[in-house]
Amino acid sequence: MDPIFVARASANAAPIWFVTAQNYAEIRKQIGAEACAFADAAGFEPKAGRHLLLPGKGGLGGVLFGLEGAGEPRDLFLPGRLAHHVPDGVYRFASEPHDARLAALAFALGLYRFTRYRKADARKISLDLPQSLDRDELARIVEAVTLARDLINTPANDLGPAELEQAARELAARHRAKIAVVVGDDLLTQNFPLIHAVGRAAAGAPRLIDMTWGEANHPRVTLVGKGVCFDTGGLDIKSDSSMLNMKKDMGGAATALALAHMIMARGLKVRLRVLIPAVENSIAGGSFRPRDIYTSRKGITVEIGNTDAEGRLILADALALADEEKPELIADFATLTGAARVALGPDVPPFFTDDDALASELVQCAAAENDPLWRLPLWRPYESMLESKVADTNNVGGGQAGAITAALFMRRFVTAKSWLHVDLFAWTPSAKPGRPEGGECQAARSLYALLAKRYG
Ligand code: BES
Ligand code: MN
Ligand code: ZN
Repeated sequence: MDPIFVARASANAAPIWFVTAQNYAEIRKQIGAEACAFADAAGFEPKAGRHLLLPGKGGLGGVLFGLEGAGEPRDLFLPGRLAHHVPDGVYRFASEPHDARLAALAFALGLYRFTRYRKADARKISLDLPQSLDRDELARIVEAVTLARDLINTPANDLGPAELEQAARELAARHRAKIAVVVGDDLLTQNFPLIHAVGRAAAGAPRLIDMTWGEANHPRVTLVGKGVCFDTGGLDIKSDSSMLNMKKDMGGAATALALAHMIMARGLKVRLRVLIPAVENSIAGGSFRPRDIYTSRKGITVEIGNTDAEGRLILADALALADEEKPELIADFATLTGAARVALGPDVPPFFTDDDALASELVQCAAAENDPLWRLPLWRPYESMLESKVADTNNVGGGQAGAITAALFMRRFVTAKSWLHVDLFAWTPSAKPGRPEGGECQAARSLYALLAKRYG
């Protein structure tokens, strides 16, 4: 992909004027009488999402793009829609959008296409960034989001556990990170019984990917990502409509890798570790079953109430491993429950933590990054929903509070106080500005902003 962001290079970058009901009169003075006459003749109004290509001397004179006026804008990514309206060329912001950094980011992210199987028309659009913006930083973020989207969009026939490992290896090589992978029956000898149980029936062997980067004496931050490359539900098989999008069930792993890329490319002062249990939740003679009981890595015995609650099982072993070296922060990302979607919809992932300071910092970052997150409680009394009559815990709660009981289940495997769990959707069901339909990288930009503040 050609660089989307260019430094003040071309003098003839086409101006984009962001207009609102409030500033339109002022902008009209800047664009000149002829452009005004054209805009009036074309019936242009300075309303949110409206756009107009202005003729200029022998070509494109500029672009008018309407933004919301007074009050809180509904979507700071609205300028992302511009990418679809303008022809190939170089552009610059000629007036201030609500947030120039987010506008530039949305513009770039809106240009994303998943082209692995069908080449989209190659666009040659670039943005001459305002001097106040850090071009390299934005480019790193766009690259990370692109990586996550590509991984999520790639179907399971081309992205099984082995290919997910390969993607992690490529990222590790690029940043000179160390990587070790435990595959197949070695999961048993190295004590990852739950990862093995969930993944053992699939043609692609289950594995635990373990990447480390950074100086040993820096604060330890460990990211854990659910890498279920396809989730049939297992023997508790999903319905057709519930299974349809389950190639995205490695969205947590994609998110962790994207965040890792941002951290490593920026060179944050952390000792980073990324743990990805990568499996396929398949149906075969060797599938794990309802009412099976497994002793987890941590020694907690787990009765299987539902084989479709597989994510929390593989994460339990990965979290237990993460916890063993007592990092300063453990953050896991997982497309864990349908209940999280029922509660908050596709765009607002819930997060869970006992660390109040982390929670409030994260909420601020989420707002600033337009990468929304909302805290849900680790509500202790609901622990009772996870009781088993024959084992230390069941892997499912009852029919209610599903996102909370999933989080409470995983909490049993972690002792670190600074543990963050994000329950992601990892998907945009219908295109929105800056967010094309398909795989989406959620929560990574927010947590990156937090980490950059702490360890930049
Ligand atoms: N991967 C699914 C959760 C999911 C479904 C995320 C749809 C995003 C969209 C997860 O493995 C799962 O199947 N969870 C079950 C848990 C239940 C059996 C307790 C669910 O949410 O239905
Ligand atoms: Mn499942
Ligand atoms: Zn799943």
